[in-house]
Amino acid sequence: MSKGLAIMTSGGDAAGMNPAIKVAAEYAASRGFKPWLVYDGLRGLIDDRFVEPDREMLSGILHRGGTLLRSSREKRFFDIGFRRQALENLKKRGIEKLIVIGGDGSFRALNQFYADFGIPFAGIPATIDNDIAGTDYCLGVDTALNMIRQSIDSIHDTATSFSRAFVVEVMGRHCGYLAMVSALSCGAEICLTPEVPYNLDSIGLRLQREIDAGRNHILAIAAEGTKMADYLTRWINDSIGMEARLTVLGHVQRGGSPTVRDRLMAYKFAVAAVDSLEAGETNSVMVFNEGHYSTRPIHEVCDSQYQIDPRIIELSTPLAQ
Ligand code: F6P
Repeated sequence: MSKGLAIMTSGGDAAGMNPAIKVAAEYAASRGFKPWLVYDGLRGLIDDRFVEPDREMLSGILHRGGTLLRSSREKRFFDIGFRRQALENLKKRGIEKLIVIGGDGSFRALNQFYADFGIPFAGIPATIDNDIAGTDYCLGVDTALNMIRQSIDSIHDTATSFSRAFVVEVMGRHCGYLAMVSALSCGAEICLTPEVPYNLDSIGLRLQREIDAGRNHILAIAAEGTKMADYLTRWINDSIGMEARLTVLGHVQRGGSPTVRDRLMAYKFAVAAVDSLEAGETNSVMVFNEGHYSTRPIHEVCDSQYQIDPRIIELSTPLAQ
């Protein structure tokens, strides 16, 4: 009997998860594994929501955003009793390995499962925040950046037409990556993130000089993690004296058809995950650094702090001063 390998998505959904599911299942089958899909992430692992994928399930999903397997954040997995229940669900189907597509919280959960019962797993990094340590890229980031770019380009049109300031809040609970890259690629005047100290006084002086020289609109990007979007809007209105509006982009950033980059990254990460399990790796995360794919042991990923590329920080720092 071929060895069972289950694929699941967990934590915040991200574009690119569907192509990763498809490629992982099809490639695993081609390597002699018997693929299984788990619905609802860790919750489905506990509540026995497994399905054997057929051709129909895996066809026509590559271009779809979100995850056809759905996702969850499941606190019961912290409890050894529920993890035992999950183990029974794997055992009765002969599932010996897992691929989890998600964030570092999901990787930690499966690493605990590995420590408990020795079930190996491979992690595919997926979060629009791009804040998983050890990899330059997480699935979903490029699609999210393009959703943001499209929205900000539209806002730019109305800002210039109406001589207004716009503050746009982008996602990133603890990380300013989306904000920095969006600010640079969309031509923002202000970018506030948790990583770069900002100085509203000097921003005010800089903008005042530009307004005196003819600037008629302002675009400001605030990362969700700063909790500054509302205040910044009022500050521009009251202190700079330009009529200001706030747009919170919210969950629109998490959806949408995966871009070419996310589809390709999904392909590479999924093949690497199957290969790593086949090679006998037990708890690794697929990573992409400086143009190269490799794997990293889970502790290197989970025990270190994600750092945004210093070159991006350097480029966006003037927008906080
Ligand atoms: O983790 C990704 C993320 O998009 C964060 O930037 C955001 O704070 C969070 O998810 C919101 O997720 P949810 O609404 O699912 O709690």
